Amino acid sequence: MDSIGAIGLQQREGFPSCSQKGLPCPSDSSELVLECLQQFKVTQTQLQQIQTSLLGSMEQALGGQASSASAVRMLPTYVGSTPHGTEQGDFLVLELGATGASLRVLWVTLMGTEGHRMEPRSQEFVIPPEVMLGPGQQLFDFAAHCLSEFLDAFPVSTQDLQLGFSFSFPCHQTGLDRSTLISWTKGFRCSGVEGHDVVQLLRDAIKRQGAYSIDVVAVVNDTVGTMMGCEPGVGPCEVGLVVDTGTNACYMEEARHVAVLDEDRGRVCVSVEWGSFGDDEALGPVLTTFDHALDQESLNPGAQRFEKMIGGLYLGELVRLVLAHLAQQGALFGGCTSPALLSRGSILLEHVTEMEDPLAGAARVHAILQDLGLSVGTSDAELVRYVCTAVFTRAARLCGAALAAVLSRLQHSREQQMLQIAVATGGRVFERHPSFLSILQETVMLLVPECDVSFIPSVDGGGRGVAMVTAVAARLAAHRRLLEETLAPFRLNREQLAAVQAQMQEAMAKGLRGEASSLRMLPTYVRATPDGSERGDFLALDLGGTNFRVLLVRVTAGGVQITSQVYSIPECVAQGSGQQLFDHIVDCIVDFQQKQGLSGQSLPLGFTFSFPCRQLGLDQGILLNWTKGFNASDCEGQDVVCLLREAIGRKQAVKLNVVAIVNDTVGTMMSCGYEDPRCEVGLIVGTGTNACYMEELRNVASVAGDSGHMCINMEWGAFGDDGSLGLLRTCFDANVDQASINPGKQSFEKMISGMYLGEIVRHILLHLTSLGVLFRGQQTQRLQTRDIFKTKFLSEIESDSLALRQVRAILEDLGLPLTSDDALMVLEVCQAVSQRAAQLCGAGVAAVVEKIRENRGLEELTVSVGVDGTLYKLHPHFSGLVAATVRELAPRCAVTFLQSEDGSGKGAALVTAVACRLAQMDHV
Ligand code: BG6
Ligand code: GLC
Ligand code: GLC
Repeated sequence: MDSIGAIGLQQREGFPSCSQKGLPCPSDSSELVLECLQQFKVTQTQLQQIQTSLLGSMEQALGGQASSASAVRMLPTYVGSTPHGTEQGDFLVLELGATGASLRVLWVTLMGTEGHRMEPRSQEFVIPPEVMLGPGQQLFDFAAHCLSEFLDAFPVSTQDLQLGFSFSFPCHQTGLDRSTLISWTKGFRCSGVEGHDVVQLLRDAIKRQGAYSIDVVAVVNDTVGTMMGCEPGVGPCEVGLVVDTGTNACYMEEARHVAVLDEDRGRVCVSVEWGSFGDDEALGPVLTTFDHALDQESLNPGAQRFEKMIGGLYLGELVRLVLAHLAQQGALFGGCTSPALLSRGSILLEHVTEMEDPLAGAARVHAILQDLGLSVGTSDAELVRYVCTAVFTRAARLCGAALAAVLSRLQHSREQQMLQIAVATGGRVFERHPSFLSILQETVMLLVPECDVSFIPSVDGGGRGVAMVTAVAARLAAHRRLLEETLAPFRLNREQLAAVQAQMQEAMAKGLRGEASSLRMLPTYVRATPDGSERGDFLALDLGGTNFRVLLVRVTAGGVQITSQVYSIPECVAQGSGQQLFDHIVDCIVDFQQKQGLSGQSLPLGFTFSFPCRQLGLDQGILLNWTKGFNASDCEGQDVVCLLREAIGRKQAVKLNVVAIVNDTVGTMMSCGYEDPRCEVGLIVGTGTNACYMEELRNVASVAGDSGHMCINMEWGAFGDDGSLGLLRTCFDANVDQASINPGKQSFEKMISGMYLGEIVRHILLHLTSLGVLFRGQQTQRLQTRDIFKTKFLSEIESDSLALRQVRAILEDLGLPLTSDDALMVLEVCQAVSQRAAQLCGAGVAAVVEKIRENRGLEELTVSVGVDGTLYKLHPHFSGLVAATVRELAPRCAVTFLQSEDGSGKGAALVTAVACRLAQMDHV
């Protein structure tokens, strides 16, 4: 020990090394001793004050309001439940910081069945003082060296070494394997460690060492190891109490009370770090001159004041300071001190334990004191024993008051009048000094008589508990690997996306030429975007998205006014007979006309019909096939305008003038084009997905004419139906396709649009459950139900403003019983699925805008894209990802995305207006 410490009390307080006064007689000596020891008495009131004040400090810290350095820290760990008893496997455990200057390595085997135990193998290593106070790297290199020495001595058969790191210092944990040291306590002060992740430092050191490949899976405080390793008795052990070199406790707190956590369910283990408790009001009256002297000499003056009255590192030192003082007062050792007595650290915890033990006998006390170079008189041994008892008793009572605070906290948070609880105890002070526990117990009974506490000694010095946490962490890490493997095919790189873009451009060209292609490239007979001269009142229908709408659109010089009403199309109608569907549509129109006072009028009508149609003119559209959730019979191959006219005919009372049939992409482009003449692309990402754009007429093989433009409905949802997306399709896409009403059709759409993303997520969740990664491996009926996972949940769950607990609540509302770990994984699944969708969509848009640029032979193209669809509009990240992908893949196009605010009905009305204008011109 250093020489500054050796001078200790003597220089500061001016004590001579040998009393120069006349020696007091033995009875005076004992009086002097007893008088001095009065300072170590702590009254019941003082204990109560400490209990109350510590409880206050704990509650403040839980609420996130702890400001003073003397407050307790209340550090949440990532341990959320006490062991199930089913944990199994072999684990390496490294313990640093609990027991003085030693480091322990253990090999723990968990048997997976309660009650079955195998003794661990362990080895202790002494850490040299220069390592405890030197550079951090040296400390961690030392630890790595001890690990390989241990493994050299006890070779193990497995290559797969998983390590739990018991690191007993205050740390901010951000994961089971991420923990930043806040400050050293006890006898450590290595540079370059505070503020760093100790797991990473250990991993780096193990790598530098190079002898073994060891995965550091979890990091825990010793109190947590103590609690987790405890054999469950009547109930689980929910408090871990350590009195070793230092002192601390952890306990299971309700997560909702821990302000720093984003969690409102379940419990979390919180490390109190009560060693730093030092509230002046509470501790002031019990602090002695010896406590102040000890604090001043310590490595961390002013810090850990409470720990310095209880922890084993300090008890010997307190006894030494008292003995030196009493010797200098002439009350002990004939008034003489010795160099050893005046040297810091010369009396250790084990000396005090032995001297205080009534069974040890005076001879042993003599021997210890003589070893310190003291001349021991007849009454000295007994008086020294008093000193040890006083110091020890105070420590046990203070520790009892602190435990009482934790128990009151538990009682309060559990809202239980009578608390029955098991406390796991660990550390050398408990192990070597049985009366410590009995004094502590008495104090607890005095302060919280309504708590029924059983004390259970920890197993393997906490090593087993560390192994338990490691087992859980290892399982979670394995789950994460499985999750990553599952999601890997959804993570597309730039090359893959560029390949999609290139394939799309090729398919577009083929489709336009009339060659076999999965892109139909349907002419729409829309030859120009609006020029602003359109006028009149129009009816519009909007069928095929989430809502069926009937609209009245008034286009005037002052702008466009829209009145609309949403009608439902029951699934039985969408998938019933064609006649029934079109009759229903006409019924809705009649209802709308009546409500709007339009009955009897024959306004021109534009029909947004969002399905693939081969158009032969503006008012002729042959339905090629149904998509999305529609499957009404006898419609495919028929002219939809005729079907509508026939239904009107059946309802003889109505007159309607169907002028144009428009795809929703076209309606959207026209609607946005009314505001921005650069809008030459329409994009829908809603229930389905599709795009249209203005193509050069000369490129459109199926329509006569070489000049001018025509809007082409790409029907890109079907892209890849020829198998060209094969490499990108996952087994989950195949599952969704198989279960759909149109297997083998709309491949691109099924990877992108709202009708399918929730289903993809659901299939992934089913798979992860079957692997045991999610929902504890339990398949639920709910999750097996088709379409329960709506795409709107993706948008909600992925919202940045949502805390994880809200994500959890959404999923629980769906009837999925899940933990926070589950919630996080579900979130990641959603993100992977929607990100792929947005990127594929972006690759498609990049193909379209590049095609336009190439058509026009431009170096740079500036163009706008009109967009609609609930997925695009409601998802928090979809639009950003589409834009980013387009920038990446089509850098020579400056693309602006305009969200359609009025739906495509307005566009259909505009198309109708143009048609009416042209028809009038024809007549003129
Ligand atoms: C609407 C348009 O706003 O968006 C429809 O008016 C279009 O024509 C629809 O079909 C697409 O989005 P969703 O999400 O309703 O399918
Ligand atoms: C110190 C540490 C704490 C540990 C305790 C017991 O107080 O700061 O983390 O639990 O000692 O070892
Ligand atoms: C489907 C339809 C298509 C429509 C798209 C968006 O893909 O086939 O016509 O544009 O959905 O609603």
